[in-house]
Amino acid sequence: MRFTPHLDRLKGLNPTCNFVFLEAEISLLSEVDAACKQIMAAEEKVDYLYMSAGLLPLNGAEYTKEGLEMCMALSYYARMRMIVNLLPLLRQSPQPRVLSVLNGGNEQRMYDNDLDLKQHWSVLAAINHSTTMTSLSFERLAKLEPKVAFLHNFPGWVRTDIWARITAPDSSGIVWRLTLAAIQAVVATAMFLAGQTSEESGERQAYHLTSDEFGPGAWRIDAASKEVTNPGVLEQYEQEGGPEKVWDHTSRVFDRILAAQ
Ligand SMILES: NC(=O)c1ccc[n+]([C@@H]2O[C@H](COP(=O)([O-])OP(=O)(O)OC[C@H]3O[C@@H](n4cnc5c(N)ncnc54)[C@H](OP(=O)(O)O)[C@@H]3O)[C@@H](O)[C@H]2O)c1
Repeated sequence: MRFTPHLDRLKGLNPTCNFVFLEAEISLLSEVDAACKQIMAAEEKVDYLYMSAGLLPLNGAEYTKEGLEMCMALSYYARMRMIVNLLPLLRQSPQPRVLSVLNGGNEQRMYDNDLDLKQHWSVLAAINHSTTMTSLSFERLAKLEPKVAFLHNFPGWVRTDIWARITAPDSSGIVWRLTLAAIQAVVATAMFLAGQTSEESGERQAYHLTSDEFGPGAWRIDAASKEVTNPGVLEQYEQEGGPEKVWDHTSRVFDRILAAQ
């Protein structure tokens, strides 16, 4: 199991703590549900829900067997599904916190009539939709769940494996292979010069989850761990009922996928 060295390190750091690792293909809502079911059966409360699984879809749109585009499934739908599933346990915590590490503060206008990008998919559109839908859903959820802190963080450039793990598909030609290698070299240099280490970013995420600075409500947090106060496009979306529309869309997607199972 790939996580074994991390698990060993955690156990070494705190031998009295009970660590349980659940492995799941979380681009699939059915697997998210199965993992949450195990958590629900084992725990009485959830204090912190941290979510950062994701990928950069530079090779183009890829669809899960449930019909969701992979990047949006990981960055948005699976994370929202996990929240909805675990809300009963979050409500049992004295100070429940939910953190999605993605792109908070960088919301953009979306294709409002094509939220899941059936007609308008592009790398940028997938990132923009996951970002804006997360912030709008967090506003909606914060109204419905007044005890819970919903935090949407943009971590900035972080020296993780997210770029290195992109590999050109076997079917791709030499032009795309060379272009991808060139992009990765440029990004690796930029990361080296200006990126945060993954250790620093990890410490910041722990701070976001535990600091008294972030109480109940919906928050957008930047790479310096400061609240983003400029509403940007969110103000316009709020006037148009954006949080409700995005949440209704999300619920419909959940219903459709569950009905097919
Ligand atoms: N790094 C940056 O500079 C940066 C900047 C802005 C935003 N972000 C966002 O921050 C988030 C975290 O990025 P990162 O840099 O930490 O990425 P990363 O190093 O590539 O880690 C991504 C994690 O997602 C997991 N994952 C990916 N696909 C999965 C799947 N289908 N099922 C289960 N787990 C899956 C991976 O698990 P395995 O290890 O088991 O494969 C890995 O632990 C992403 O949403 C990213 O868009 C990152």
